[in-house]
Amino acid sequence: MANTKQRDSFRASLDKEPHEVASMFDGVARRYDLTNTVISGGQDKYWRWATRRALALRPGERVLDLAAGTGVSTVELGKSGAWCVAADFSKGMLAAGRHRGVPMVAGDAMALPFADDSFDAVTISYGLRNVADPDLALREMLRVTKPGGRLVVAEFSTPVVPVFRTLYMEYLMKALPAVARAVSSNPDAYVYLAESVRAWPNQRQLAMRVAAAGWSSVKWRNLSGGVVALHRGFKLG
Ligand SMILES: C[S@@+](CC[C@H](N)C(=O)[O-])C[C@H]1O[C@@H](n2cnc3c(N)ncnc32)[C@H](O)[C@@H]1O
Repeated sequence: MANTKQRDSFRASLDKEPHEVASMFDGVARRYDLTNTVISGGQDKYWRWATRRALALRPGERVLDLAAGTGVSTVELGKSGAWCVAADFSKGMLAAGRHRGVPMVAGDAMALPFADDSFDAVTISYGLRNVADPDLALREMLRVTKPGGRLVVAEFSTPVVPVFRTLYMEYLMKALPAVARAVSSNPDAYVYLAESVRAWPNQRQLAMRVAAAGWSSVKWRNLSGGVVALHRGFKLG
C-alpha cells in the first residue's frame, strides 16, 4: 500500500530518465484516458482523428503506434482498416489498455524491438517529448519504416497567436495541475506535463530535428491554434 501511494504521487524530472518516466506513466495509467479528455476540454478526440487523417492509412497497411500508452491512439488508427500495433515501455499503461484488444508490445522507443523496414507508417502521439533522447527515437522510427513510408508526430507545441500563447501558458502552469488533482490517479505527473510542454521545441525547431534524423519532405500542421502540431515526414524510397 505504501509503495502504491509513493508511486501514484510520482513525477519524472525534465532529464527524462527512462525508468522514472515509465514509473510515472504506470502511476497515471488508471485514469489516463479520462484525464486527457478533461484537461484538453474534449479536443483530444479531434487531435486523434486529425492524426489518423494525416497518416492517410490504407486497409492492410502495417502501422506502429509508438508510445501508445493505453492504446487509445491505436484504436483510432485502426478505424482506417490498417493493422496497428501499440508499443510502449510502461507496462502499467499497456495493462490499463489491454481490454481494447489491440496488439501490444513492450519496448523502448530508443531501441525498438522490430526489424528494419517493417512498417508502412510509424506514428507517436504525445510520446516523443517524454523520450530521453528524441533524436535517437526519430532515427529508430526511420529504421523500422519501409522505404517510401511515412511518419506523423503528434505533440504539444507553441500556440501561434501571442495573446492566446500567454493565456495557454498560464493555463498550463496554474489551472492544469489543479484540474489534474481532481481527476488524475497521479496529479504530480501533470506538473511534469506542463513543464515538459514549455521546454519542448516549437514547430520549426522540431521540424529541423525530424529532418536531421533522416526524414524527408518534413512539414507540419497546427491544430487548435498550435496547442498541438502534427509533423509529417517520409522515408526516401
Ligand atoms: C502521454 S502518453 C501518450 C499515450 C498515447 N500515445 C496517447 O496518445 O494517449 C506518453 C507515453 O510515452 C511512453 N514513453 C515515454 N518514453 C518512452 C520510451 N522511451 N519508449 C517507449 N514508450 C515511452 C510513456 O510510457 C507513455 O505511455
